[in-house]
Order: sequence, then C-alpha cells, then structure tokens
Amino acid sequence: MTVKQQVANILENNLGEYISGEEIAFKLNCSRGAVWKAVKALKSDGYAIDAVTNKGYKLDKASDILSLDGIKKHLDKQLDDLDIQVFSTIDSTNNYIKSLAEKGAKEGTVAIAAQQTGGKGRLGRSFFSPADSGLYMSILLRPKMQADRAVRITTLAAVSVAVAAQKAFGVNTDIKWVNDVYIGGRKICGILTEASLDMESGGLDYAVCGIGINIYEPKEGFPDEIKDTAGAVLSKRTADAKNKMAACLLNSFFELYTSGVENAYLAEYKKRLIWVGEQINLIRGDKTVPATMLGVNDECALIVRYEDGKQETITSGEISIRKRA
Ligand code: BTN
Repeated sequence: MTVKQQVANILENNLGEYISGEEIAFKLNCSRGAVWKAVKALKSDGYAIDAVTNKGYKLDKASDILSLDGIKKHLDKQLDDLDIQVFSTIDSTNNYIKSLAEKGAKEGTVAIAAQQTGGKGRLGRSFFSPADSGLYMSILLRPKMQADRAVRITTLAAVSVAVAAQKAFGVNTDIKWVNDVYIGGRKICGILTEASLDMESGGLDYAVCGIGINIYEPKEGFPDEIKDTAGAVLSKRTADAKNKMAACLLNSFFELYTSGVENAYLAEYKKRLIWVGEQINLIRGDKTVPATMLGVNDECALIVRYEDGKQETITSGEISIRKRA
C-alpha cells in the first residue's frame, strides 16, 4: 500500500478529528514531508482535508470518497476474494470489464468508478455519469445459464440495489419493469447487462452486469433531458455513502447470486414492482401501444392486457414502459 493510501486510511479512521502530521508520520514510519505530499495528492483527488498549524489534518465528516479500503470496510468477509478495482474516472466500467473478460478474467472481477466519461445505457443510449454524485459498477459473471435466461441477472441486480439502499440508508425503493430502480417516481438507478455467448453450448460465456446509481443529485442539477424523471438515493451529502452503498450492493448481489435458489430474488422483485394494475404505454422503438399492466410471471416477463382484451407476456428488453397520465 502506498503512503498516500495509508494516509487516506488514517484520516478515514479519524473522520472529523484532527490528527497531527507527526503522529501520522510516526504510525507510517515515514517523514512529515512524505505525509504532507500524500495529503496534497489526496486533496487533488477531491478529499476534503482541512490542514491547521499545530493541530494537523482533518478529513471532513461529510467526506464521501470512493476507495477500495473504504468499500472493504463494509464488505462481507465471504467476498474477500472478489477482485475489486476502483477508479476515480473511467470511460465505461462495462467496457473495461468486458475487455478483462475477453482476456479470461475470473467471475467476481468488479470495476467501480466515481465517474464515467462514456457511460452506456440500454437501447444504445448514453448514461449520465458525472463526477462526485454517482456510483458506477460492473460485475463479471460466468454463470452456467442458457442465454435466454440472462434477464435474471438484471432483475437480481435490481433487487440487490433495492436491498442495499434499505440496508445502507434505510431508504425504500421501487422497481420499474424490467430493471430500473425508483424512489418517489424518479429513476435512481439503471442496469445494463451485456453478455457474450458460447456458440457451441448456446449458454453464456460471460455476462457483465453494469449498475449506475445516482447517490446524490449533481451540484449543477440533472441535464434537461432527464431532469423531470431522474432522482437520487440521498438528499444530502453523507459521510462514506458511496463506499457503503457499493459494499452493501455487492453483499446483497452475491448473497442472492450464490444462494443456490433460482428465484431467490423473485418475491422481493414482485413486492417492489410498481404500476401493477395500472394503465401504461408500451414503447417499442417509435411505436407506443396502450395496455394495462397485470404483473410479471416467475421469469419476470411482463404480462399486459391490450385494449381489445388480448393478453401478452413480454420478455423483450427492447421494450420500455411508461405510466399513462
Ligand atoms: C439504463 O438505465 O439505460 C442502464 C444504465 C446502466 C449504466 C451502468 S453504469 C455502470 C455500467 N457501465 C456502463 O457504461 N453502463 C453501466
């Protein structure tokens, strides 16, 4: 571990308290100059560190910096062997994990970033991923699963986000079919699972489950295109929130993924599903069809009734739904 990482750890362990440069240098067996240099580097990474002569250094109480050590503090012991890589910025965590998957990386390789410059959403859209307000994560999986069941990974991830928000902050969330997580009618999380097929078996070679969460509303607000629909998990800055949410999400995801029970997430998914029994529009490309949402089946496929009384079960992720006003 570098001096910078060790200084970050000490400041995080003394959150909101001053600790002298001399004491840090003693603990790390290095010079006060080396501590000062590390603090300078941390500040330029965005750490809110106060430096006062004769008192030392203090990390702001509401400091919320994503870090590997910070995440590990909240991570279940059984997840020690995950290969978690943390980035302050990256183009897309999904692209990064896909490139590692192609090189043979193991299941449980995870990339987590505080910003994406080329975040990808569903249906070829981009995903707004600004610095300092969100959490962007991709998990590499190599499940023994037929390709047509891959939607389960996405629905499992949506439930994991909901459980994590509850555990980390006591915040209640809803799920909008198929994979969006909502709070108070606003989308706080989107999920994009990309899979590669093994042509011989028709099964998955690998899947990359990408999860983007708005922890806070960005300082400058959401862009016009999403400002009426986007929301955030927390309304004010909270110490260590991103690390806590990242760890709780991994804890709940792997608990469900390794449970051995195929539909372990289903009851929670159905419980949180919104708009059941309500009038919705089905949007496929530029076509909009009105229907009543009846619910989902045990595969999380959407069951709807059209205005002519006919019923259909829809599995395609190419369809979005909106509530009718
Ligand atoms: C959607 O709502 O359209 C899905 C958004 C998925 C965004 C996540 S953020 C982490 C991962 N990396 C990406 O480029 N996209 C996914």
